[in-house]
Amino acid sequence: MTIRTPFTDLVGCRHPLQNAGMGTASPALGIAVAQAGALGMLSGALLTAPVLEEFLSPLRAAPPGKLGINFLMPFLEDPAVVDIAAESLDVVEFFYGDPDAGLVRRVHGGGALAAWQVGSLDEALAAVDAGCDFIIAQGVEAGGHVRGTTALLPLLNQVLNRVNIPVLAAGGIGDARGIAAVLAVGAAGARLGTRFVATPESGYHPRYIELILSARSEDTVYTEKFSGMWAAPHRVLRSCVDAVDQFDSDIVGRMQMGDQWVDVPRFSVMGPLASATGAVEAMALYAGQSVDFIHSVQPAAELVRDLMAGAEQQLGADCRRMESWLGGSTDS
Ligand SMILES: Cc1cc2nc3c(=O)[nH]c(=O)nc-3n(C[C@H](O)[C@H](O)[C@H](O)COP(=O)(O)O)c2cc1C
Repeated sequence: MTIRTPFTDLVGCRHPLQNAGMGTASPALGIAVAQAGALGMLSGALLTAPVLEEFLSPLRAAPPGKLGINFLMPFLEDPAVVDIAAESLDVVEFFYGDPDAGLVRRVHGGGALAAWQVGSLDEALAAVDAGCDFIIAQGVEAGGHVRGTTALLPLLNQVLNRVNIPVLAAGGIGDARGIAAVLAVGAAGARLGTRFVATPESGYHPRYIELILSARSEDTVYTEKFSGMWAAPHRVLRSCVDAVDQFDSDIVGRMQMGDQWVDVPRFSVMGPLASATGAVEAMALYAGQSVDFIHSVQPAAELVRDLMAGAEQQLGADCRRMESWLGGSTDS
């Protein structure tokens, strides 16, 4: 059995699942997710047009599956990257800025689908008006930068009541039951971020991953603590807020970005990659309330397979339970 939704029909992927394009995560993650039949996402943050062109050309020649890229609006300086991405990939997606019809037109002009991650009903309606093909509703439970202040279920409900393009759900989803739950409410798919940090392909630091594995939902905190370079609310592990408050130097460590080693300033927005040295525990350890469901590091393809097989089973069990509940006698 596979779950077919308006999202899988639109994108042409097998599974109604997307990994979040995550800041500095390795492109190996999105590629593995695409190969596994979900929508794999890359991160376009801080990439210049020539670098993106060179990186995408082999993927254009031999696509691994359905693949998209995420751009963070505060860092999108050269719209040429959008054109390059749209000509090479299946989906171009934006986050953290007002939905922009001009950008959506550029995406469509290059032949890709356009998507926007939104944090409120108003933003969802603006994304529809801008011409997006699908949107992602992000609840305040989400890890990383958080756009709105509403929890996923009420946000999803508001959006689904008003929007007639496919809506994915994001924030706090870390297991098959969570995926089945949002599909049952009417989402056309799920987007998971923190769950995919705990994969060998993500490229994140082992200590960060270890802390995610041992954390509970209540160990995450919504804060603006890590606002160096970008002042915006985000959700991280509480432990890194405590650690950075106690740290008494301006540089917490160093990290390799591309072929350069860079300092990681205190309160920097950069999450620790595997190469990070220094006080990794005082860097931005982004994590959603989904941490509760993350107990092991799993290869991304295996994770996609397990999550989707579990969601299919869960939905089957939910259907049988609903049938029996709906058929229950109300005679007194
Ligand atoms: C480490 C990390 C980095 C993230 N970076 C981005 C990003 O660059 N662009 C984006 O649209 N969302 C980003 N997000 C947020 C995700 O898109 C998504 O909303 C979130 O991960 C969903 O919640 P979850 O982490 O509980 O699954 C990031 C999330 C995490 C955990």
